[in-house]
Amino acid sequence: MLERKDIFAKRIEKEKNCGRGIYDAVNKTLYIENIPLIYNAFSRFLQITGIYKKWKKNALAVRIRHETWYLKRLPARFEEFRILQISDLHIDSLPELAEILPGMIKSAACDLVVFTGDFRFGIHCPDNKIAALLKVIIEEANKAEYGALGILGNHDYLQYSLDNVEKPGLKLLLNESLKLKRNDDEIMIIGLDDIHYYKTGRLFDFREELQKPGFKLLLVHSPEIYREAALYGIDLYLCGHTHAGQICLPGGIPLISNSRSPLQYNQGRWQYRRVSGYTSAGTGASGLPLRWNCPPEITVHRLKVKK
Ligand SMILES: [Fe+2]
Repeated sequence: MLERKDIFAKRIEKEKNCGRGIYDAVNKTLYIENIPLIYNAFSRFLQITGIYKKWKKNALAVRIRHETWYLKRLPARFEEFRILQISDLHIDSLPELAEILPGMIKSAACDLVVFTGDFRFGIHCPDNKIAALLKVIIEEANKAEYGALGILGNHDYLQYSLDNVEKPGLKLLLNESLKLKRNDDEIMIIGLDDIHYYKTGRLFDFREELQKPGFKLLLVHSPEIYREAALYGIDLYLCGHTHAGQICLPGGIPLISNSRSPLQYNQGRWQYRRVSGYTSAGTGASGLPLRWNCPPEITVHRLKVKK
């Protein structure tokens, strides 16, 4: 495993070189979401037609989704272990979430809370207000028996994340791993840095740890490395990033995926070889603070041993 100073240096170097244009020459990728004209025109149209208000209401109607996983390598002591996943908060887009979420986290009563990236929408600018908003959510999450963990997404600048997320008490896994113990049993949790935009997370860096037997949970912002996860023996892969489309056609059909993965990996449960995966539809919203045919969620993952 790399040391934190090396991890930071790698991320900061990438942040310097990655532009925020429509075409990113470093990653050789087209980012349609970076065309402000599209968002502004769409927002204006929705406001005039009265749809904006309704869709914002949808974006604030966060639901609790429940998923049960039967996992072969899960140690016996982790039977019924419950993980609450919160993803893509983009708290500056919907500050109201700071009032809604603490009560929901409390009522979910999970053993561990994980945040799978994209704490904010704005990227380059510091924003002092969001620290206070995130703090109330993080404080409630940390009350879980095993506390709370987080990883960074493509909207999270390293320095602002350390200030806004880690300082208020969330343990960030920045290409780091840890062992979670329950009595005599343990599981390994790996938290990778963003693989979608900065591409600074690699499972290869954990190859020695991953060769050891035992249950492995991967936290990473997007589903895009599902093949690599299978290669390295990941058991459960929790991610977000896609927002499941956020604004979808009836039936939840996304207009934009913003992911290099095939459609079946971009929302909800999926399976790739031995990897069980879940792509959250996201708790917040980006671009516009709106949702249609795509409810926001926090997700309770209930782990059970597959017999
Ligand atoms: Fe996001």
